[in-house]
Amino acid sequence: MRILVTGGCGFIGSHLVKKLLSMREIERVINLDSLTYAGQPYNLVDVENHRNYKFIHGSINDIELIGEILSSEAIDSIINLAAESHVDRSIGSVNEFIKTNIDGTRCILEQIVEHKNKGVDINLIQVSTDEVYGSLKPEEAPFVEETPLRPMNPYAATKASADMLVQSFVNTHGICAAITRCSNNYGPNQFPEKLIPLMILNSLEGKSLPVYGDGKQIRDWIHVSDHVSGIIATLKAVEENKVDSPFVINFGADNEMTNLEIVETVIEIIGVGREMIQFVSDRPGHDRRYAMGYGKAWELLSWEPLVMWREGITETVEWYLSNPEWIESIRSDEYRTWLENHYGRD
Ligand SMILES: NC(=O)c1ccc[n+]([C@@H]2O[C@H](COP(=O)([O-])OP(=O)(O)OC[C@H]3O[C@@H](n4cnc5c(N)ncnc54)[C@H](O)[C@@H]3O)[C@@H](O)[C@H]2O)c1
Repeated sequence: MRILVTGGCGFIGSHLVKKLLSMREIERVINLDSLTYAGQPYNLVDVENHRNYKFIHGSINDIELIGEILSSEAIDSIINLAAESHVDRSIGSVNEFIKTNIDGTRCILEQIVEHKNKGVDINLIQVSTDEVYGSLKPEEAPFVEETPLRPMNPYAATKASADMLVQSFVNTHGICAAITRCSNNYGPNQFPEKLIPLMILNSLEGKSLPVYGDGKQIRDWIHVSDHVSGIIATLKAVEENKVDSPFVINFGADNEMTNLEIVETVIEIIGVGREMIQFVSDRPGHDRRYAMGYGKAWELLSWEPLVMWREGITETVEWYLSNPEWIESIRSDEYRTWLENHYGRD
């Protein structure tokens, strides 16, 4: 298999690239990443000289570049993770989200059609999110693949739009695609604007721990390695023609926890006091609860999450403690400015 991964320098993408490079049946992994503030080439320092790997600095909005890569590298499948991924930033301005998440996906789709018209079939794995389903009430059952899309924030709306574009291209142009929707990920290498790494780094630096609203928003936390194994299981099922197109699949971890419980676990592991928690005004339009049903993934892909929460979060905290050079590499001026604008100076 010859794979184009987009957004491979990000959190999930970098774990995926490393996993793909460890697999015998993968002949080539091309990583196309435009290196936004969230893209860290340092995440892939261990594999940068791997003979089957190539990094290309460029954007999924560059339709000609995508076409060139697909042809020159004889790509079989694209796994599209390139995205603006932070809800808070999409509330500030949605422009980049529309550009990357929707229009970038359009560029990929158009190139797949162009190749199909020349007799070359390329599969697409579109990495989406549970956020496209909207928010659940406490008594409601977890989302399933048939749950209608009801995105409630600008980030989620751009991801849902991309999903719909993918579905429409399958229906109209007969391309082969899968859409994966996963719950909140955690693990090493996550950029510290997201809840868990922000809490770890602030705890280590003796800063306050900002928690939105009452902290009772519920998410179904999954370890990044389980998400990656779900993406790979989907890729194989699509490559082996075992599933219909478009194949929509949910991944979750049966691990519903409130944000406050997450913060309490982190500070207990690190050993700082509860007085560090600081409740701040809630995010506008903050979804209350997400939970993912993954029965279909179990039934069709024999996939299930393997990492237990306590083990995964302890290992994640330890990773941040033992990788100060990674922390230094992501401490860009832009990140500092964003933190200050968002939560105020500490
Ligand atoms: N993090 C989660 O909890 C989670 C959960 C479910 C789904 N997802 C989805 O998984 C994907 C990856 O998420 P993540 O958390 O790793 O994100 P991330 O923000 O850590 O990484 C995104 C990567 O995309 C790159 N990128 C951005 N715009 C680009 C462009 N125009 N062209 C090429 N590269 C570009 C960035 O440089 C970065 O390396 C996203 O599509 C996201 O919606 C994330």
